[in-house]
Amino acid sequence: MNEVSGAFHVEHAEDRTPAASVTFDDTPLARELADLTARRRRLDTVDVRFSGKTRVFTVANQKGGVGKTTTTVNLAAALASLGARVLVIDLDPQGNASTALGVPHDADTPSIYDVLIDDFPLADIIQKSPESDNLLCAPSTIHLAGAEIELVSQVAREHRLRTAVDDFLATTPEHLDFVLIDCPPSLGLLTINAFAAGQELLIPIQCEYYALEGLSQLLGTVRMIQKHLNPRLHLSTIMLTMYDGRTRLAQQVADEVRAHFPNEVLKTVIPRSVRVSEAPSFGQTVIAYDGQSAGAVAYREAAVEVLRRDSNTQHEGDA
Ligand SMILES: Nc1ncnc2c1ncn2[C@@H]1O[C@H](COP(=O)(O)OP(=O)(O)OP(=O)(O)O)[C@@H](O)[C@H]1O
Ligand SMILES: [Mg+2]
Repeated sequence: MNEVSGAFHVEHAEDRTPAASVTFDDTPLARELADLTARRRRLDTVDVRFSGKTRVFTVANQKGGVGKTTTTVNLAAALASLGARVLVIDLDPQGNASTALGVPHDADTPSIYDVLIDDFPLADIIQKSPESDNLLCAPSTIHLAGAEIELVSQVAREHRLRTAVDDFLATTPEHLDFVLIDCPPSLGLLTINAFAAGQELLIPIQCEYYALEGLSQLLGTVRMIQKHLNPRLHLSTIMLTMYDGRTRLAQQVADEVRAHFPNEVLKTVIPRSVRVSEAPSFGQTVIAYDGQSAGAVAYREAAVEVLRRDSNTQHEGDA
């Protein structure tokens, strides 16, 4: 009985919330479409600059299915569409990032497994995504599933990816603007290798009830990494994903995350979008699959924001 009346009370309270985004004197859909058109126009004339250095992002969250891979590949493609040269390192045995970038990754393909376990140079396994000459991928294959165990007995087991990335960046004739490392949903040795290799941590957070759960464990691990393995790693970016503006819950989660991390959360929020979820089944990012869709526009805006945030801070640090 109580539960039922409680539910009614909540709904009623929601209807009367003065700050509710839906008003009755215009239709939300019409407003959304007009807004999207204006945002596309702004993107078409956007002015971006590259710092000339290589920014290495580790995209991690040990929670499964929060949008790590989706964010990695779409942000990478959006950055590439702005003229950046981007390498995606697929560090997940599921190989979803390789799939979304249209890069073959069957068991015989030279892959990040060979780099981590057999000391292959990164240059030997990198493939170009058919989507763009600026978009590169170090694919993962099913062999990577065994790497978590095999790494345990390796020398410098936490640093193998970092050494490979540093060697590659020092020797490649073509400058890279970004490296994005897509992590598996765990805090095992693969993710630790990604933490040791990265400069910036990007955490995608799904706008749902348990969003912040597990985050303190993640940040605790990052503090350990900073202390013992990689002092340069810092949480620079939080991206809110799969946002459904029609639900009060998504807004509450977004507000809560922003209250905790006012400087790290991007203004751009990635909406829940069918186009975004369809794209990988065509071996494409949403930027190639439907670049004018709401999801693609959001990832393109996020890319501009990521670029601009760097230019705001680059003079303070490593000039
Ligand atoms: N903005 C979005 N709109 C709709 N669907 C989305 C969106 N972002 C991600 N998805 C879908 O949610 C699912 C999980 O996303 P994704 O694979 O990127 O998460 P993940 O964190 O990489 O998962 P895992 O932990 O398994 O590696 C996928 O089916 C993806 O297509
Ligand atoms: Mg993934």
